[in-house]
Amino acid sequence: MNDSMNGPRAESAQLSRDVQAEMPDDGALEETTRARGKFPEPPPLESHGPARIVAIVNQKGGVGKTTTAINLGASLAELGRRVLLVDFDPQASLTIGLGIDPLALDASTYDMVIDREMGAEDIRVKTGIDGMDLLPSDISLSGAEIQLVSEVARETTLARELEVMRPEYDLILIDCQPSLGLLTVNALTAADGVIIPLECEYFALRGLGFLVDKTIRTVQERINPKLRIEGILATMFDMRTLHAREILEEVVERFGETVFHTIISRTVRFPETNKVGEPITTYAPSSLAAEAYRQLARELLSRMA
Ligand SMILES: Nc1ncnc2c1ncn2[C@@H]1O[C@H](COP(=O)(O)OP(=O)(O)OP(=O)(O)O)[C@@H](O)[C@H]1O
Ligand SMILES: [Mg+2]
Repeated sequence: MNDSMNGPRAESAQLSRDVQAEMPDDGALEETTRARGKFPEPPPLESHGPARIVAIVNQKGGVGKTTTAINLGASLAELGRRVLLVDFDPQASLTIGLGIDPLALDASTYDMVIDREMGAEDIRVKTGIDGMDLLPSDISLSGAEIQLVSEVARETTLARELEVMRPEYDLILIDCQPSLGLLTVNALTAADGVIIPLECEYFALRGLGFLVDKTIRTVQERINPKLRIEGILATMFDMRTLHAREILEEVVERFGETVFHTIISRTVRFPETNKVGEPITTYAPSSLAAEAYRQLARELLSRMA
């Protein structure tokens, strides 16, 4: 391993190794407690808002976008932050992942962006996590992409809707669908920052170049100059494979400090949480996987400070 992986990132890789070694154990916390010192617990807030809006984006499917939205959101809520999650994917994995049935909804993000009479407050639901609310989605959102095409200022629809939510929350996290269509462009237009979850394998690297150099840069140049990359997050990391380690090193060499020091390991605990419909931070609160997302929350807040 070259010295592009050092400091907290090396510790996170160690943490990753420990997760592999201990799977599916959810006990030992020694390593994570050590890592915690690197990103200190932020002081409690005395008041809330205005929120920073962060889009979780990658056009590649199944890289951990939704898992990151749920568990980063829950970890931020644990730190006393008010969090609004926005399900902007017709697959509704975020909604389902929080134990909410999309078929039982009265209204969703589809209604919010298409129906002029409906705003975010009309579709908002509570989640099982204190301090974390959700704008849920359902399959009808897939029609919004086509309907929005003929609208004036079609890229800014979500931004207008979320603006009214800013005063109530500290963070608004938008879970995007795996494509770079109009819905994702809306999310990038509404956002102040982007988190890019990345599975460390060869094709991911090629897609990352396109996302950063083309899509994000184009949105920055044409619509949203304030947009910045909050961080690239290595997810589903398998320390045992040389390939994953090499790809991570390549990403760190190219993107440097943009890559979060926190690394999310591959563990079966995440698919398990899909079934129960809750974050890992409540399903397996003392697991290393939960601690990894808590560390990510502290790292994100320290970057925002
Ligand atoms: N660190 C991890 N280790 C193992 N499995 C994971 C991990 N993170 C996510 N998963 C699992 O991988 C699958 C895809 O994850 P997720 O839904 O978060 O990806 P996504 O990028 O949102 O996918 P899509 O592009 O379809 O929206 C899920 O079954 C999830 O439980
Ligand atoms: Mg998803």
